[in-house]
Amino acid sequence: MRFDWSALPAHWIPGEPFATHVLNVMHLLLPEGERWFVEVFKEALPLITDERLREEVVGFIGQEAMHASAHQGAQDHLVNHGIDPGPYVRQLEWFFRVRLNRPDGGRRWLVSRLAVIAAVEHMTAFLGQWVLDSHKLDEAKADPTMLDLLRWHGAEEVEHRSVAFDLFMHIDGRFANRVAAMAVAVPFLVWQWSRGVRYLMASDPRTTQKPCWRDIVKAGRRGLVPSTPHLVRSTLRYFKRGYHPSQEGSTSQAVAYLASSPAALAAGQ
Ligand SMILES: [Fe+2]
Ligand SMILES: [Fe+2]
Repeated sequence: MRFDWSALPAHWIPGEPFATHVLNVMHLLLPEGERWFVEVFKEALPLITDERLREEVVGFIGQEAMHASAHQGAQDHLVNHGIDPGPYVRQLEWFFRVRLNRPDGGRRWLVSRLAVIAAVEHMTAFLGQWVLDSHKLDEAKADPTMLDLLRWHGAEEVEHRSVAFDLFMHIDGRFANRVAAMAVAVPFLVWQWSRGVRYLMASDPRTTQKPCWRDIVKAGRRGLVPSTPHLVRSTLRYFKRGYHPSQEGSTSQAVAYLASSPAALAAGQ
């Protein structure tokens, strides 16, 4: 998958630096996060006794590795607009590669990480569905290449939304671990996302706007980012006893997008 960023404006949602940078945080967070998913899933592969699940996990590893490199390209492009993401990204690298690296952690440590990935994949699935549905971004004339990256990635997240959950259920599946993992993942993501937005806004030479919590509520109401009530409701669904990711999102919509994505079509030629 190749995305050509040479014509990407700094504020790719025109006149909307805040909403642009809220979505730009994905390019900083996802490459490291998704590479970490890949490492953890490779570690879990020998424990999988179901052949079909193993195949799905192998497919998941390939998709996440591709997402990481696609967002890496967008991250590298920020430098062309005078925004150096290096200091923020190096902290994330330390967190994922050093802080989360516990070679003697054993099965319990593996289960904890699988539970966190399943929780995060619930969020990537509902965010993926949101971006597939987000007509307000088209109305705001968001850059079509960036929209294609977000929707291609979102569609693949919707498509493989059950894999991490099924793997967690196969290896452990305890409800308490599922709840605890979401309780860890949500504050971490809110913290990192708000740090990322503040970092990008402060580094952006084209804006003097100081972001605050009200901005995210306002941008959500206008449909440029997921709304706060939508985020809260979607997250809470994960705590239902009978939850399964197959109840979320639309596979047919995701597959239809993947069949028409300009970058996916170009890659298939
Ligand atoms: Fe992904
Ligand atoms: Fe994913």
